[in-house]
Amino acid sequence: MNVIETRRAGSEDISQIWLLLNQFAASYSPDERVFKSTFQRLIESESVTFLVIELDGSVLGYLLGFDLLTMFANGTIFSLVELVVDESYRGQGLGKRLVSDALVQAWARGCVEVVVPTRRAATFYESLGFSKSAEYLKLKRP
Ligand SMILES: CC(C)(COP(=O)(O)OP(=O)(O)OC[C@H]1O[C@@H](n2cnc3c(N)ncnc32)[C@H](O)[C@@H]1OP(=O)(O)O)[C@@H](O)C(=O)NCCC(=O)NCCS
Repeated sequence: MNVIETRRAGSEDISQIWLLLNQFAASYSPDERVFKSTFQRLIESESVTFLVIELDGSVLGYLLGFDLLTMFANGTIFSLVELVVDESYRGQGLGKRLVSDALVQAWARGCVEVVVPTRRAATFYESLGFSKSAEYLKLKRP
């Protein structure tokens, strides 16, 4: 039987997460030097949700998100910013498990809402109960 587990990302996951990040970033080109320093900061930060999912001991996906303090929503919103499952292992419930474990943790911290900016995976999130809301605009540094 396959054993699926989620846990907090650690330094030992850096190589696999680099590979997964390159499958995630459709319209960006990750820079490995920047990635290494950001990865280190993320695993050291207590306030970040950075989970990996293992299938039979191999890391096959990760999820990254942050708590945003708000006044308008009467509390903390959890913003899920990166989620990727290895291309060869999609459709086996790993993405759903990462999101549901992150949701359990977010509700336990007292978050009032979860948001996710995505274009490619809206149907995936809708299948988990999310619904479309505001549009997401961005401005790059000149
Ligand atoms: C989106 C992603 C994480 C889903 O991971 P996954 O492990 O394949 O998803 P699951 O197997 O857990 O699927 C859960 C449900 O969503 C459905 N689903 C999965 N991917 C889907 C997609 N792209 N579009 C529509 N439905 C999808 C599955 O059929 C499943 O439905 P079910 O529970 O009724 O069977 C994965 O496709 C991925 O890494 N995509 C590239 C990166 C990306 O787009 N990330 C999201 C932006 S934050």
